[in-house]
Amino acid sequence: MTSKRILVTGSDGQLGNAIKSESLQYNSHIFFFKNKNQLDISNFSLLQNEIKKMKVDIIINCAAYTNVAQAEKEKQTANIVNNIAVENIAKICSKENIQLIHISTDFVFDGKKESPYKENDQTNPLNYYGFTKLEGEKRILEKKLKSSIIIRTSWLYSKQKNNFVYKIINKIKKNDRLNVVLDEFGSPTNSDNVASFILEILPYINNTKTEIYNFSNSGICSRIEFAEEIMSLFGESKVIEPIFSSSSDVIRPRFSALDLSKTKIKFAVDMIDWKTSLKSFFKKNKNLC
Ligand SMILES: NC(=O)c1ccc[n+]([C@@H]2O[C@H](COP(=O)([O-])OP(=O)(O)OC[C@H]3O[C@@H](n4cnc5c(N)ncnc54)[C@H](OP(=O)(O)O)[C@@H]3O)[C@@H](O)[C@H]2O)c1
Repeated sequence: MTSKRILVTGSDGQLGNAIKSESLQYNSHIFFFKNKNQLDISNFSLLQNEIKKMKVDIIINCAAYTNVAQAEKEKQTANIVNNIAVENIAKICSKENIQLIHISTDFVFDGKKESPYKENDQTNPLNYYGFTKLEGEKRILEKKLKSSIIIRTSWLYSKQKNNFVYKIINKIKKNDRLNVVLDEFGSPTNSDNVASFILEILPYINNTKTEIYNFSNSGICSRIEFAEEIMSLFGESKVIEPIFSSSSDVIRPRFSALDLSKTKIKFAVDMIDWKTSLKSFFKKNKNLC
């Protein structure tokens, strides 16, 4: 692939950071990693000026308001970041002929299906976070951006501290009670795998209007199975108390696994299964645990 100038927004987040590490293998490209302080995507004029100044060919938008429970209380902020700012990014991409890679979520679905969700399945978000992410998707799709894609992923974890893997490890370390939901099913996904997928497929994105692709690790489990696997890889065995999702602070889809076949066919990739990837995550991040 010819050398590209690539802007990664939200670069201090889980995925942004994973892309930063992965980018070291792509030294033919010029990357601009911008965290929230360096580039607030909700500031339209700043966004426009910075993008022009950097002369980017591709934007990978990893910036998002991702706190699902808090989004119910900070609706305006969640909507600005996940919807309005995304529309602004899409407008700039359309005007400047920039390729957009945007990240979305399994939470655009209501979880009532009993088999993995395909990209064109009916959306129906259950919470405000999911609603804002879906609105952001719609704003991008309206612009019919060429060679641009929306990647829906699920249950991300990384070496950053704010995710399910670290929450479980912290509870084990502190000897806290381990209450874990038993009736939510999905696919835990290693941010490193999403990052390498994104950078690997860049030369092969050639759609005439924006397309949605699912990407997650393969296989499906419940939150409790995920917690059990984390505990076993951490080398502990404590009692996990199963709880129902109805006791959670916010409603989440009961089942949100993603069907990976469209992505596998288009990009000739094979997804690593979640247990294998979690195992390699623990191996790679021994000191962090
Ligand atoms: N995490 C998951 O389980 C999950 C699952 C499915 C899909 N996704 C999607 O995957 C993408 C990446 O998620 P992630 O887990 O990497 O999220 P993350 O760790 O929360 O990272 C998002 C980053 O965006 C930053 N940000 C927030 N508002 C911003 C603004 N106005 N301007 C610029 N940056 C801003 C955040 O900064 P602050 O932290 O300082 O606010 C954070 O560094 C998101 O689109 C998310 O919706 C995530």
